Amino acid sequence: MWLTRSVRPFVFTNEYDQRLPFSDCSNLGLYVHIPFCENICSFCPYCKVRYAKESCDKYIDALIQEIHLAGKQHFGKKTATSLYFGGGTPALAADRLKDIIGAVNDHFVITEGIGVELHPDNVKPDVLQILKDAGVTKLSIGVQSFQEKYQRILGRTCVNAAALKEALAEEPFETVSMDFIFALPSQTFDDLKTDIDAAFRHGANHVAIYPFIDFTFTDSRLHAMPKKEKRALLDKIASYCTQQGYVRSSIWTFSTVENVKYSSMTRDNYLGFGCSAATLLKDRFKINTFSVEHYCRRIYERKLPTSLTTHFSLRQRMVYYLFWTAYSTKVSAADFEKFFGASLKKMYGMEIRIAKLLGFINEENGECRLTPKGAFYFHYYESFYTLAYIDKMWNIMRKEAFPERIEL
Ligand SMILES: C[S@@+](CC[C@H](N)C(=O)[O-])C[C@H]1O[C@@H](n2cnc3c(N)ncnc32)[C@H](O)[C@@H]1O
Ligand code: SF4
Repeated sequence: MWLTRSVRPFVFTNEYDQRLPFSDCSNLGLYVHIPFCENICSFCPYCKVRYAKESCDKYIDALIQEIHLAGKQHFGKKTATSLYFGGGTPALAADRLKDIIGAVNDHFVITEGIGVELHPDNVKPDVLQILKDAGVTKLSIGVQSFQEKYQRILGRTCVNAAALKEALAEEPFETVSMDFIFALPSQTFDDLKTDIDAAFRHGANHVAIYPFIDFTFTDSRLHAMPKKEKRALLDKIASYCTQQGYVRSSIWTFSTVENVKYSSMTRDNYLGFGCSAATLLKDRFKINTFSVEHYCRRIYERKLPTSLTTHFSLRQRMVYYLFWTAYSTKVSAADFEKFFGASLKKMYGMEIRIAKLLGFINEENGECRLTPKGAFYFHYYESFYTLAYIDKMWNIMRKEAFPERIEL
């Protein structure tokens, strides 16, 4: 309320627009959601269903139609920075990614590569070859932990690190990221350090350590780690990575060199395709239905599968921009001014002064950079936001294909 200078909540309604005004958006990202998994993990909040070939093929036919429905709204080919496939487990449809990328290429020119999320079981030379042939340049592998103890806690099977290394050596990619979940019960700094070292030794050049979030609607019996312990762990692991010479590319990601990145979130604007995929434009945020069946039905009626839309006030959009840009640990005053046509100092000068006094940020060369303390509080606030906003919204959307209205 303070930052938006208003008591107006974020209101999402099911009215939707067939038009998507993305033509004038610069720094546009693309996201494609494939919601199929071989096994469903109890802790996972994402929109996913059990894999079956027939329903997956039907879904992908609809997905390609959605890309055309949206893409043809721009005359000519629109430049997009990146294309990310997430899920679910997109590699279960590896043989169809070429068709999807072909549909995307009919309407967009992608300048910074194509990324795919993989389950460790997908990391095999034949699958990697299919992905490479389709034009994929970045991989993100959901390792979670190399240690049996934590895989058991998470209800997943052990990852064969040697097989992973071998497959990645046979089919190298520009970016190989590995995901770990941290702040699991009884997890120590040594556990996490061992996992990160193993990732870099087994073919990763980027790691993401996601703090475990205990979503209210999942079946997981695990509880989030208390704040104090989590902060000590995050501080220790961040300074360990910095000492090792790794670059902190966002709050939870570290890479071997500066230009290696895997992030579908830090874009000024993005178009999302597939069920549960979100779209962020200059004036609005919309989210597709979570129901695979209703998604396909809408597409066959030649309608966009939008479930909910919110129209931003200018200050709401600014808060949204600042929140996701700060995720990269820095906010540039020049970029903010370019996007909004208004000076960051003029809009949020007082907040910047307070954040500096509290030791959350440093200001240098026109950039506000998060300190380690600021990074922890960003994470802390992000967890709060996830539980207060995303948890509430996803919990409704996984039960109702087109809810009438949600106020956050
Ligand atoms: C779509 S999955 C990755 C690809 C593949 N489906 C897999 O599980 O290996 C995305 C990532 O989200 C993270 N994740 C899932 N549930 C989470 C939770 N409750 N808290 C924090 N991170 C979570 C995991 O690290 C997971 O690798
Ligand atoms: S963590 Fe990955 S494999 Fe497990 S249910 Fe979620 S998306 Fe599927």
